[in-house]
This record gives sequence, structure tokens and C-alpha cells, in this order.
Amino acid sequence: AMAERTALCQVDTLEPGEMVRVEVAGEDPLLLINDAGVFRLLDDDCTHAIASLSEGRLDGNILSCPLHGGSFDIRTGKAKSLPCKQALRTHKVIVESGMVYFEG
Ligand code: FES
Repeated sequence: AMAERTALCQVDTLEPGEMVRVEVAGEDPLLLINDAGVFRLLDDDCTHAIASLSEGRLDGNILSCPLHGGSFDIRTGKAKSLPCKQALRTHKVIVESGMVYFEG
């Protein structure tokens, strides 16, 4: 199947250091992060239990879960501290003509 693009937001609606939960039909909830000008897209649901990581805290490259404080590296999705062990999936993001797209 051909990759399909879905517009997520305009580049200038998400400031550096900000993140937002986004819903794409047929996908698990996604987390879009403006990482100092680089857009990153990961699963939004924590791999430990049930929490939206968009409500957590971003400190540089480290994203902490709001529920039990486990953390992930937003560049790789890898779990960085307990109780999180399983990595978050990362997704392809494309920036073009001022828009941010998910491609999947
Ligand atoms: Fe995220 Fe427990 S649900 S650390």
C-alpha cells in the first residue's frame, strides 16, 4: 500500500518545547513534539499503564509520564527510567510548506 499523508498542524502553532496529542484515523493516539525546531512524533499512550504522555513533562529530550513518573527519550522512544521498560514507537513526520504531516 502507498504511504498516506495526514496533516497534523501548522508548523507555527506548536512552539519549541511544546507538545500536543493528535488523533489520526486508524492509528493509536500520537504525540507531536516541537523539539527545538525538530518535529518528533511518538505514541502518546505510556507503555507502562494508561496515561497520556501529552500531559507529562518535557525536559530537554526526556519526557516524563504524568502518572508514575517513568520517562522516555523523545529522539529514540527508548524507556529511560522505571517503571517504563518498553520503548514508545516513533513515527515518520514530514514538514512541508509550513505544515506538519504524519506519513503512515
Ligand atoms: Fe506512565 Fe505508569 S503509566 S509511568
